[in-house]
Amino acid sequence: MFSKGLLAVLAAQTCAAAVSKARDDATCTKTTVAILGGGMAGVAAAQALHNSSIEDFVLIEYRDTLGGRVAHTDFGKDANGKPYTVELGANWVQGLGSPGGPENPIWTFAKKWHLNNTYSNYSSILTYDETGFNDYASMLDDFEDLYDDASEQAGILLKENLQDQTARTGLALAGWRPKVDDMKAQAVEWWEWDWEDSYSPDESSFIFGAAGENLTFNQFSDANNYVWDQRGYNHLIKGEASTFLKKNDPRLHLNSIVTNITYTDDGVTIQKKDGSCVQAAYAVCTFSLGVLQNSDLTFSPKLPYWKRTAIEKFSMGTYTKIFLQFNETFWPRDTQYFLYADPTTRGYYPVWQSLSAPGFIPESNIIFVTVVSQEAYRVERQSDEETQKEVMKVLREMYPDKDIPEPTAFMYPRWSTTPWAYGSYSNWPPSTTLEMHENLRANVDRLWFAGEATSAGYFGFLHGAWFEGRDAGEQIVALLKDKCSNVSDTSDDCGNRRYYEKLSGSSPLADYSVFDGWPVSSFYSSS
Ligand SMILES: Cc1cc2nc3c(=O)[nH]c(=O)nc-3n(C[C@H](O)[C@H](O)[C@H](O)COP(=O)(O)OP(=O)(O)OC[C@H]3O[C@@H](n4cnc5c(N)ncnc54)[C@H](O)[C@@H]3O)c2cc1C
Ligand SMILES: *[C@@H]1O[C@H](CO)[C@@H](O)[C@H](O)[C@H]1NC(C)=O
Ligand SMILES: *[C@@H]1O[C@H](CO)[C@@H](O)[C@H](O)[C@H]1NC(C)=O
Ligand SMILES: *[C@@H]1O[C@H](CO)[C@@H](O)[C@H](O)[C@H]1NC(C)=O
Ligand SMILES: *[C@@H]1O[C@H](CO)[C@@H](O)[C@H](O)[C@H]1NC(C)=O
Ligand SMILES: *[C@@H]1O[C@H](CO)[C@@H](O)[C@H](O)[C@H]1NC(C)=O
Ligand SMILES: *[C@@H]1O[C@H](CO)[C@@H](O)[C@H](O)[C@H]1NC(C)=O
Ligand SMILES: *[C@@H]1O[C@H](CO)[C@@H](O)[C@H](O)[C@H]1NC(C)=O
Repeated sequence: MFSKGLLAVLAAQTCAAAVSKARDDATCTKTTVAILGGGMAGVAAAQALHNSSIEDFVLIEYRDTLGGRVAHTDFGKDANGKPYTVELGANWVQGLGSPGGPENPIWTFAKKWHLNNTYSNYSSILTYDETGFNDYASMLDDFEDLYDDASEQAGILLKENLQDQTARTGLALAGWRPKVDDMKAQAVEWWEWDWEDSYSPDESSFIFGAAGENLTFNQFSDANNYVWDQRGYNHLIKGEASTFLKKNDPRLHLNSIVTNITYTDDGVTIQKKDGSCVQAAYAVCTFSLGVLQNSDLTFSPKLPYWKRTAIEKFSMGTYTKIFLQFNETFWPRDTQYFLYADPTTRGYYPVWQSLSAPGFIPESNIIFVTVVSQEAYRVERQSDEETQKEVMKVLREMYPDKDIPEPTAFMYPRWSTTPWAYGSYSNWPPSTTLEMHENLRANVDRLWFAGEATSAGYFGFLHGAWFEGRDAGEQIVALLKDKCSNVSDTSDDCGNRRYYEKLSGSSPLADYSVFDGWPVSSFYSSS
C-alpha cells in the first residue's frame, strides 16, 4: 500500500508535470522534426528531410558553429604572422573508394568541396626509443601478417554467430603475444590498435573491431587521406548544410544547449538551458555517446532500462592531439610518422606526425603527438606546462644529437571534459552483441538516435555519422508520409526500430541481411 504522504507527493508531481506541459504547449516553438546536434549526423538528418521536401524542422546546436567533433582552431603562425588552422577532432577521410566500388560519402564531399588533403603514408615511419633512433619497423610487418589471420578468425565468429572475445584473445591466438616489458612490441601494438580504437586490444571487441576495420578499409579502400585544408575539415559539413539552410535561417538554433528531453508516443519536447523550448512531432538526438552517458542531460520519462544499459555498455574513447610549433623543422623533413617506445609506460607520447612533411604544410614547422585512453585522461588533467615538459623530454630522447629549442606554440584540446562531446569517439567493447547495439540505436517513442556510435559498421568514423543521420532522417520521412502506419512492422526502414527488452546474448547474422546499407557478405568476401 502507498502511504498517504507518498500519494500526496505523487499527486504533486503529476500536477507539476501537467503544469509544465501546459506551459510548454503555450510557449514552445512548434516544429515537425527537431534535430538535436549540428554535427555530421544532424546535418545529414536535416538534409534527408529536405531531400524529401520536409522543410518544417529545426536544428539545435550547443556551439556557435556547425561541425561538431569535426572542429579546428588557430595555432602558431606563419612567416607573415598569420595563424595556421589545425584539426582538434576528425582529421582523415578513412577509406576513400575504388573504381567501380562504393565510395565513402565523406570522400565524395571532400572532392565536392575541394578540401586540401594528402595521402597518409603509414610506411613513411621511423622508429625510436629512449636512446634515439632504433629501427624496429619490421615488427610492424610482423603484426600485420598475424592480424590478417586474426581477422579471418573473427570473420568466422561473426558469420557463425559465436561468442565474441577481446581483441587481445584474438591476437594472441593468431600468435601476437608481446611481452609486457618488450616496449618496442608494445609501441607497435599501440600504433596498430590503440591509435585507431582509442582503447587497448584488451578493451575492444575482437569481432566488431575486425569487422569495422573491414567494412571501412576493405569496402572503400585502404587509404587514409589527411585533411589539412586551412578552412578546416568542417568546411564540407558547413557546405552540405548550405545546400538547404539559407543565411541566418531561423530553423538553425546555434548557441542552444539542450538540458531536458521529454518524449511520448505523440511528440517530443526539448527544453533549452536559456528557458526556451521546442515542441516537435519527432526528434533525432545526435549527441555523442559521451553526452548520453553524462548526467548534464535528463530524459523524461527516464530512458528504459534496456536503453540505459546499452548507453552505459558502449565505450567513449578519448584521443588527444598535442600540437607543437618550432622555429625550425629539426626532425626528418621527408618522413610523415615517428613512433616512440617509452622504456616504462605503454602509450606514453607514442605517435608523432609531421605537418612539415612534403604534401602537407612544409613551411609550418608543426609536429603533433597523440595519446589516448588513460594517458589522454592523465594529460587532460594536468597543466599545459607539465605536459610540455614531458613532451619535450621525449623529443630530446628521440633526437639526442639535436639542440632542440622550446616550442614557439603549444596547445591541446581536452576532449574528455568538453561538455558537448565528453570524449572523442566510441568503441565497441568485448563480448557485446549486435542486439545490444540495436538497443543503442533504437528509438524510444518519437525520439530517434543517430550519430557515429549508432553505426554498427562504421562506429568511430565520420562516415558512420553521415549514414546514421541520413537513415534516421529517412525513417522519419517514411513515418510522416504514412508509409509506416503499421506499427508492428519493425523492418529496417519502417516504423519503430527493433529493440530487445531482454538480451539473449546472441544475434544471428541472418537478421542483419543489410548492415548499414551494405550487404553483410562484404564482411567476409575478399575484395
Ligand atoms: C580527436 C578526434 C579524432 C577523430 N578522428 C577521426 C578521423 O580521423 N576520421 C574520422 O572519420 N572520424 C574521426 N573522428 C570521429 C568523428 O569526428 C565523429 O565520428 C563524427 O564527427 C561524429 O559526428 P556526430 O554527428 O555523430 O556527432 P557530433 O559531431 O558530436 O555532433 C553532435 C552535436 O551535438 C551537439 N551537442 C552535444 N550536446 C548538446 C546539447 N546538450 N545541446 C545541444 N547540442 C549538443 C554538439 O555540439 C555537436 O555539434 C575523430 C573524433 C575526434 C574527437
Ligand atoms: C540529398 O540529395 C543530394 C542531391 O541528390 C545528395 O547529394 C545528398 O547526398 C542527399 N542527402 C541525403 C542525406 O540523403
Ligand atoms: C611511402 O613511404 C615509403 C617509405 O618512405 C616509400 O617507399 C613509398 O614510396 C611511399 N609511398 C607512397 C605512395 O608515397
Ligand atoms: C590548398 O592548397 C593550395 C596548394 O598548396 C594552397 O595554395 C591553398 O591556399 C590551400 N587552400 C586552403 C584553403 O587550404
Ligand atoms: C532538466 O535538467 C536539469 C539538469 O540539466 C535538471 O536540473 C532539471 O531538474 C531538469 N528539469 C526537468 C523538468 O526534468
Ligand atoms: C631557433 O631557435 C634556436 C634557439 O633560440 C636557435 O639556436 C636557432 O638558430 C633558431 N633557428 C632558426 C632557423 O632561426
Ligand atoms: C503489420 O506488420 C506485421 C509485421 O510485419 C504483419 O505481421 C502484419 O500482417 C501487418 N499488418 C497489416 C495490417 O499489414
Ligand atoms: C575481414 O576481411 C577478410 C578479407 O576479406 C576476411 O578474411 C575476414 O573474414 C574479415 N573479417 C571480419 C571480421 O569481417
